[in-house]
Amino acid sequence: MHLIDLRSDTVTHPTPEMRDAMARAEVGDDQSGEDPTVNRLEELAAEMVGKEAAMYVPSGIMGNLCALLTHCGRGDEVVMGDQNHIFWYESGGGAALGGLPYHTVRNGRYGELDPSEVNAAIRPPRSGFAPTGLVCLENTHNRCGGTVLSREQMQSVADVAHERGVPVHLDGARIFNAAAHLGVPVPELTSTVDTVQFCLSKGLSAPVGSLLAGPAPFVSEARKARKMLGGAMRQAGVIAAAGIVALEKMVDRIPEDHEQARRLAERISQLPGIELDLSTVQTNIVVFELTAEGWSPEEFTAALAAEGLRISSFGARRLRVVAHHGIEPEEYARAADIFESVLTRTPVLVR
Ligand SMILES: Cc1ncc(COP(=O)(O)O)c(C=O)c1O
Repeated sequence: MHLIDLRSDTVTHPTPEMRDAMARAEVGDDQSGEDPTVNRLEELAAEMVGKEAAMYVPSGIMGNLCALLTHCGRGDEVVMGDQNHIFWYESGGGAALGGLPYHTVRNGRYGELDPSEVNAAIRPPRSGFAPTGLVCLENTHNRCGGTVLSREQMQSVADVAHERGVPVHLDGARIFNAAAHLGVPVPELTSTVDTVQFCLSKGLSAPVGSLLAGPAPFVSEARKARKMLGGAMRQAGVIAAAGIVALEKMVDRIPEDHEQARRLAERISQLPGIELDLSTVQTNIVVFELTAEGWSPEEFTAALAAEGLRISSFGARRLRVVAHHGIEPEEYARAADIFESVLTRTPVLVR
């Protein structure tokens, strides 16, 4: 059976153009800075997010971790939203490997942080207080439903942090989605923060990789963290070549994913047993609550899968679908039909 896989935008496959570029990539030893394709990707990435330099890393998690380890000294506290990916899904890497306690503040419904709460979370210098080393933002905000922080929201938090002498890192895994939603160039958002991590391997369809961008001295320091974590690669131009295609060819089509996510969300929000706040559907992610009686989330997702649709679970009764490259418009329509057919059926029949 043909499966429509809407679990994540990380399931995207490299395009034929990417595979072609990978086959032809000029390579060298990147640990010595000698891979021309990686160098080209890093320059292009830095330029596209308006930073001085960038470093190619195997994953978004490693990009964020290199940022934490480079910004902070052992024992520094990292302030972040209580729904942030770094807090939930990155194995507590900063705490485990850098001795960095996490201090969370509440994320609002759209992933925003209240600047006064961030200000209160930043410790004054006092013996006994862990010094605050970093504030982290996330845009788009995954757990909040792919929601977007405006430039003003980012700036107001960054202002508070900077006034207290604390740098700001952005987990911008999907920053191109945020910029597309707002209709602004990415640097308009990233200029508010000191450093940014963004992913090539999600909505941009590259098979591997993320970039950590910021001031040149910061990025050279971050290269030490990458090496320590085992993330310095050799002839990585083979994968970086796909990343260049991602940045040159895949950014402009992002609004298509947003439109498809919106359409699908509008349809499934009408169904009984689904509680979906359409105001959170701003980009390619749709998060909703399964309220249908008699269905456990596991049974529900299994029933969808039995009809050819894969979606992901987001804890308790929250579920997520993500629109991405490679899914045709008729497949989104079919996905909505599958939701409808499963929800209008008694769960007993599929047990
Ligand atoms: C907001 C956010 N940050 C970071 C990551 C980590 O990226 P990776 O899976 O490449 O490590 C993800 C992955 O889904 C994410 O959604």
